Amino acid sequence: MSVNKEIKKVTTNTLLKMKAAGEKISMLTAYDFSFARIIDAAGIDIILVGDSASNVMAGHETTLPITLDQMIYHASSVIRGIDRCLVVVDLPFGSYQSNPDIALASAVRIMKETGAHSIKLEGGEEVIDSIKRIVAAGIPVMGHLGLTPQSIYKFGTYTVRAKEEEEANKLRRDAKLLEEAGCFAIVLEKIPAQLAKEVSENLHIPTIGIGAGMYCDGQVLVMHDMLGINTEFKPRFLRQYLNLHDQVTNAVQQYIKDVKKKDFPNEQEQY
Ligand code: KIV
Repeated sequence: MSVNKEIKKVTTNTLLKMKAAGEKISMLTAYDFSFARIIDAAGIDIILVGDSASNVMAGHETTLPITLDQMIYHASSVIRGIDRCLVVVDLPFGSYQSNPDIALASAVRIMKETGAHSIKLEGGEEVIDSIKRIVAAGIPVMGHLGLTPQSIYKFGTYTVRAKEEEEANKLRRDAKLLEEAGCFAIVLEKIPAQLAKEVSENLHIPTIGIGAGMYCDGQVLVMHDMLGINTEFKPRFLRQYLNLHDQVTNAVQQYIKDVKKKDFPNEQEQY
């Protein structure tokens, strides 16, 4: 029997047990009540209310514009849709980088105003004091290393990170620091699979990969990408499970035809 099937509610402890048992962890993003309900009922382990909402929900080019208030709106909608999975909410850009007091205040707002179970923030050594402060307040923290989209203007590109030894060494050190600071898991985004393997093997806490290969303890994808809602984004790491873009287009075109030719509504569809 898998750890996943035995449990009624996924907690940070469940994830540690899953790693110890060699059971992979599944995580997807969601930003609203209706999709959260479907994804949770389908058996996902973790829903991430990602700041990718800035891209896929609000249409911004980067994750930088989304605000704490907007993240709180998305997270509270998700929480109303779930029964079983663990919900992680991204601290948006600007809500934690300045100092640990501000970081804690932002994390507290998310926990109090949404009912979510944990938060995620990007970075290693630079944000370690904020992570310690949030963890000390009893709030579970997920780390995020590798390609950290809130720093896109520093990187200048969305290509694979930590290919060079210097950056790989920093990532190795940061992963250890995050574990020691009390993070319950770390997202590894767009790094070489062998580096993700080494980091995953050297940590007790689980790693969740996106474009970080098969050796991570779990995987995460952005829901809109894996369902094929957003069809322009086709990186190598993405497996598209549906073409919802075409299915929705066909349904909408059929509806338009039915209305135009006075086929909808028919006798049975009116009062
Ligand atoms: O915001 C997000 O969707 C994320 C994932 C890409 C991990 O941080």
